Amino acid sequence: MTAPRIEAHRLRCRACGADYDAQALAICENCIGPLEPVYSDRRTRPDRATIARRPPSLWRYREWLPLNGEPVYSTETGFTPLIESPSLARTLGAGRLWIKNDSVSHPSLSFKDRVVAVALNAAAALDLDTVGCASTGNLANAVAAQAARAGLPAWVFIPEDLELAKVIGTAVYGARVVRVRGTYDDVNRLCAQVADRNNWGIVNVNLRSYYGEGSKTVAFEIAEQLGWRLPTAVVAPMAGGSLLTKLHKGFREFLADEIVAGGIPRMYGAQAAGCAPIVRLVEKGEGRIEPVVPDTIARSLAIGSPADGGYAARVIRETGGWAAAVSDADIVTGITLLAEHTGVFTETAGGVTVAGARALAMTGRLTAADEVVLCITGNGLKTAEVVQDQIESLPVIAPSLREVSDLLDWAAAPAA
Ligand SMILES: Cc1ncc(COP(=O)(O)O)c(C=O)c1O
Ligand SMILES: [Zn+2]
Repeated sequence: MTAPRIEAHRLRCRACGADYDAQALAICENCIGPLEPVYSDRRTRPDRATIARRPPSLWRYREWLPLNGEPVYSTETGFTPLIESPSLARTLGAGRLWIKNDSVSHPSLSFKDRVVAVALNAAAALDLDTVGCASTGNLANAVAAQAARAGLPAWVFIPEDLELAKVIGTAVYGARVVRVRGTYDDVNRLCAQVADRNNWGIVNVNLRSYYGEGSKTVAFEIAEQLGWRLPTAVVAPMAGGSLLTKLHKGFREFLADEIVAGGIPRMYGAQAAGCAPIVRLVEKGEGRIEPVVPDTIARSLAIGSPADGGYAARVIRETGGWAAAVSDADIVTGITLLAEHTGVFTETAGGVTVAGARALAMTGRLTAADEVVLCITGNGLKTAEVVQDQIESLPVIAPSLREVSDLLDWAAAPAA
């Protein structure tokens, strides 16, 4: 007997409620609202003990993901560590603090592995045999890596000026990498046209409704790893704003299904000051996203016209959270602060999270009463150049014991 085929859920427009069969379509044809997968209220859901017995991947929460049947690709992704750091909590002035460490995500070292794992299985369900993406770097890595393993051809479109490690970490898997002279927003527009013309699954364009659901698994894992309860506050970096809204959706679903009890955490978003359209909307309190031209070292977050920006700003306000924009210098400080306190080396996006949390604590929005989770979404080796000056002052010596002794004397001497 063959295993039942994987199937994708039907879709519904969040704005006008129009229904659609499962397909590679993310925008409502009536009203251009976003489409979302429909989950049956009658579906069976596992209890905590059943979830806990399943293999440690994001598929242990499969009843809250938009597919029925066995996943065929990327079955090992997810279930990254949640690490408590009393020393970072003390430094920031939070009661307790954990980091959700997606910098060690399998296989491509960012949380984008989660969304791609779901999107590639949606592509399988919809019989799409070529995949692709528009990316600020991490998504490119995740699509190229997971498509290689799946044996699917991949077309990956990126802005020309991405960090070297992100370009190499895409090309190495044999993906077709197309570098576009323009911003991410130009690349994204181009990909929308490409998706229309070819029968391809562009994971964050026509498969976006399925893809985004993968980010909910960060929330599910946080709840389980805290011992089936929720923190009081979560800080996440924002580019398109999808991760933050899906974290919120994940917490809401676990509360609604009584997997956890209590209240929704306050949701906090962080962006680089050189690309902070969602932060500005939160501060303004009403109206629409005003697009910007990004100028920041946090290239993975450099989306000037964020697709889920308005929705993210609303979630932040409704949960009693707030948003912070941090300078490039603060991002570097955030990276070193995390490395020195927790032994985790994050990329610029994680530096934005840590610096954002610090700014929020300094203005009294995170307090000693809080149990905070910081979402560390990517790996520092991919953007190592931003902390390159750390090696300039390192000693270089001859291979002699004498020189080591001199160095030890110098290190022990009181600083001038
Ligand atoms: C490392 C990292 N963190 C966070 C984000 C933000 O994700 P979103 O676009 O869902 O807001 C990105 C997006 O590319 C990213 O690469
Ligand atoms: Zn609609």
